[in-house]
Amino acid sequence: MKLSIFIYFCLILPIFSINWLEVLENTLDKNVGVCDNLYRHVCPQNKTDGFSQIVKQEFRKDFEKYKIPENFEKIKEEIETLIETIRNNTTFDLIFEKSEKFCQENRDEFRLFLEQLESLIRNENIPCEDDRCFVIALENDNCTDVVEFIKFNLKKNFDLAKEEIKFVYLPIDATDVLQSFEWIKNNTEVFDRINSTIAIIKALTSEKLRETPWIKNNNLTRIFENISKKLYLPDPEIIANLNIKRLTDYESNLNKCSKNVPSDLISICHLHTIKNMDKKDKYALFSGDNAFNSYPIMGFGLAFAYYAKIDLPPAFYLGSIAQIVAHEVGHTYIVSERGDNFLPYFSNDTRNCIQNQFTKSCEYFAEGECKTSDIQFDDNGADSFSFEIMYQIFKAFYGETMNDEIIGSKIGMTHAQLYFYSHGTTLCSPKPRISYPKGSHHASNVRINSGAAQNLDFGKTFNCAPNSKMIESRAEKCYIFGENAAETRF
Ligand SMILES: *[C@@H]1O[C@H](CO)[C@@H](O)[C@H](O)[C@H]1NC(C)=O
Ligand SMILES: *[C@@H]1O[C@H](CO)[C@@H](O)[C@H](O)[C@H]1NC(C)=O
Ligand SMILES: *[C@@H]1O[C@H](CO)[C@@H](O)[C@H](O)[C@H]1NC(C)=O
Ligand SMILES: *[C@@H]1O[C@H](CO)[C@@H](O)[C@H](O)[C@H]1NC(C)=O
Ligand SMILES: *[C@@H]1O[C@H](CO)[C@@H](O)[C@H](O)[C@H]1NC(C)=O
Ligand SMILES: *[C@@H]1O[C@H](CO)[C@@H](O)[C@H](O)[C@H]1NC(C)=O
Ligand SMILES: *[C@@H]1O[C@H](CO)[C@@H](O)[C@H](O)[C@H]1NC(C)=O
Ligand SMILES: *[C@@H]1O[C@H](CO)[C@@H](O)[C@H](O)[C@H]1NC(C)=O
Ligand SMILES: *[C@@H]1O[C@H](CO)[C@@H](O)[C@H](O)[C@H]1NC(C)=O
Repeated sequence: MKLSIFIYFCLILPIFSINWLEVLENTLDKNVGVCDNLYRHVCPQNKTDGFSQIVKQEFRKDFEKYKIPENFEKIKEEIETLIETIRNNTTFDLIFEKSEKFCQENRDEFRLFLEQLESLIRNENIPCEDDRCFVIALENDNCTDVVEFIKFNLKKNFDLAKEEIKFVYLPIDATDVLQSFEWIKNNTEVFDRINSTIAIIKALTSEKLRETPWIKNNNLTRIFENISKKLYLPDPEIIANLNIKRLTDYESNLNKCSKNVPSDLISICHLHTIKNMDKKDKYALFSGDNAFNSYPIMGFGLAFAYYAKIDLPPAFYLGSIAQIVAHEVGHTYIVSERGDNFLPYFSNDTRNCIQNQFTKSCEYFAEGECKTSDIQFDDNGADSFSFEIMYQIFKAFYGETMNDEIIGSKIGMTHAQLYFYSHGTTLCSPKPRISYPKGSHHASNVRINSGAAQNLDFGKTFNCAPNSKMIESRAEKCYIFGENAAETRF
């Protein structure tokens, strides 16, 4: 591994005012042993002032200092109206009332009205498909039926628009996008750090893929490398500019439409504008504590990215945000049998091994409903991938010094211990953690504890007895990639 890239881990991007080591040490729950339950040792149940809550508060304080530039206030309002309009059904009722009235009283007005509706919603280049057509309603004389027809078609169009919005074609929370942009301008180094982390994870993964028996024996290395190469983190300034362009386009298109349309049809103009948006690059800036891999692009909410600024030894960064980065990168290489992925292969043995660990961790740590289901595999796999690869990177970075005490620690915490603690902080919640059979993510406590249970050094790091829960909950050791990985694939 290249040392030049490693240097990024050493760069401290400090938030000076807080002693984060003290914060971390004070939030650890002394009543729950780390060997009995890593997650609950780090994230005390029923307490609201856990480490991650403090990080989030600090991030919010910092974020709120950044204001939306004044020239965007109007756009912001328009986008907010859009959201409200889409949620509001009252404007629809107006449209339906109008349709009913025209239908019964004035067929000429009704025709004009339907033509207008259709021209706004239908793309003229495509044939009149049922749900985009309104004028054909004139063929029916029964106004009850006609209004039903219009209702049905409009609802269908709005449902589609809602779906499109959900997938961030449009940076729907304009305030958040604009404020995020301002924040990023002052914090570019955070994204540089994440980007070099991605490069390191990819480089090490490449090495491991080449050694993986089921990949090697099936000549899949080049396919994997190709896929790997294309994954990237877009420059946040470019995303921001794209989002802002989209907001301004939205405004001007909406204005164009509103000029020709009665004010009670304004919601149709929103629909029209959404339909005609450039939907090519569907990503937005966002401030939340979330991350995604929407291959080939990745995205990190700023509340997560903020972790990269916390002034603690590199072990903390490696175990927290870098671990999340690895999880997102991992989604690229982990495939479920469902096959809804660009990567057609994975090992069934490895898949079963991973699921078994999650099942066993459920048995030991359930705080309520705890089920390991097939639908979670993509995420469980990405977790397992990230725990495996980040620990390797952590060890390579620290070498012998990983068991040295951290200067200033009141409890004699070592770097290796900090590394494990930091995992837990990112998924912290004081509430009982449960997993729904239909949810794509397993319960946070199971995610953290199964990752640590799989780590053969965990017991040594904390001096755990062999019969402690963290050690006993280990299922068979899984090797996802590398020379010890499985022979077979599906
Ligand atoms: C948390 O609070 C609930 C309800 O107040 C209680 O039943 C439970 O025992 C508490 N758990 C812990 C670990 O303190
Ligand atoms: C952004 O950085 C500049 C230069 O370091 C600084 O003067 C300014 O206060 C920062 N903005 C905020 C909102 O913190
Ligand atoms: C949404 O409905 C409320 C009343 O329920 C109304 O006051 C508000 O103006 C409506 N907003 C839009 C954008 O139509
Ligand atoms: C709007 O209508 C949908 C069904 O058409 C309904 O599910 C939803 O609750 C309604 N929303 C409001 C705010 O009335
Ligand atoms: C219109 O159609 C509805 C059912 O779709 C029916 O109940 C009603 O009687 C019809 N009205 C007339 C005037 O035919
Ligand atoms: C893999 O490729 C090599 C040559 O590049 C070829 O000899 C070998 O048969 C291939 N193996 C499989 C399983 O396709
Ligand atoms: C990898 O990608 C390059 C170009 O993107 C293509 O020419 C090559 O065939 C690909 N190789 C495999 C094994 O998919
Ligand atoms: C990350 O690095 C890649 C090149 O490795 C570059 O294309 C991309 O713009 C960078 N992204 C960020 C956020 O710096
Ligand atoms: C994968 O393993 C599971 C559990 O052993 C088995 O039921 C399934 O048939 C296997 N699938 C394939 C494709 O081998």
